[in-house]
Amino acid sequence: MKIKYIAYMASSIDGRIAQSNQSGIDWTSKEDSNFYQNSLKKVDAVIVGHNTYKLASRRNWKDAIVLTSKVSSPKVKGKTIFLNPKKSNLKKFLQNQNYRKIAIIGGSRVYDFCLRNKMMDELYVTIEPYVFTAGILMFSGNEFKKNKFSLQSIKRLNKKSTVLLKYINRN
Ligand SMILES: NC(=O)c1ccc[n+]([C@@H]2O[C@H](COP(=O)([O-])OP(=O)(O)OC[C@H]3O[C@@H](n4cnc5c(N)ncnc54)[C@H](OP(=O)(O)O)[C@@H]3O)[C@@H](O)[C@H]2O)c1
Repeated sequence: MKIKYIAYMASSIDGRIAQSNQSGIDWTSKEDSNFYQNSLKKVDAVIVGHNTYKLASRRNWKDAIVLTSKVSSPKVKGKTIFLNPKKSNLKKFLQNQNYRKIAIIGGSRVYDFCLRNKMMDELYVTIEPYVFTAGILMFSGNEFKKNKFSLQSIKRLNKKSTVLLKYINRN
């Protein structure tokens, strides 16, 4: 059975997901937070980067696969699995767990890794009404590639101009 990979990100108007890789996401709206928490209830597992994992205030995920270079083979701690994709075959590992739906929850290195490895079938982007002018971009890649997505829906989440975009990967 093919796994469905769904990415979730909250962004400023200028495509930044955080001020720095040590800062949290306390600037997002209550409506986005509700959407995000409800969405995570519908997936079997999340894929998260080590920085985002360490920063997360609530880890109410089902299974979590934390990407890190710090392990040479998958290390299991309860429902959290630390995995180094350079040393272990991530896709094979996920298939073996019988997951059906997986949420990609960032940060920027993880979004980039998943997109490049064809692990991003759908993408939800919440745009909050701020321009940060600097900060962490959505995707941290340094190799240009034009990935095609098509817009499936646009939803205004509140009166404060927060917008939720849903895209399907067309690559
Ligand atoms: N607005 C949003 O929707 C959103 C979502 C998520 C995160 N964020 C923010 O994004 C920032 C973090 O971004 P980030 O790019 O620094 O973080 P990240 O992707 O969460 O973490 C990067 C770290 O994860 C590990 N990692 C990621 N990809 C890997 C790979 N392919 N192979 C091996 N290890 C990998 C490495 O950890 P090791 O050092 O252990 O090797 C790397 O240093 C935070 O400020 C967070 O709050 C925002």
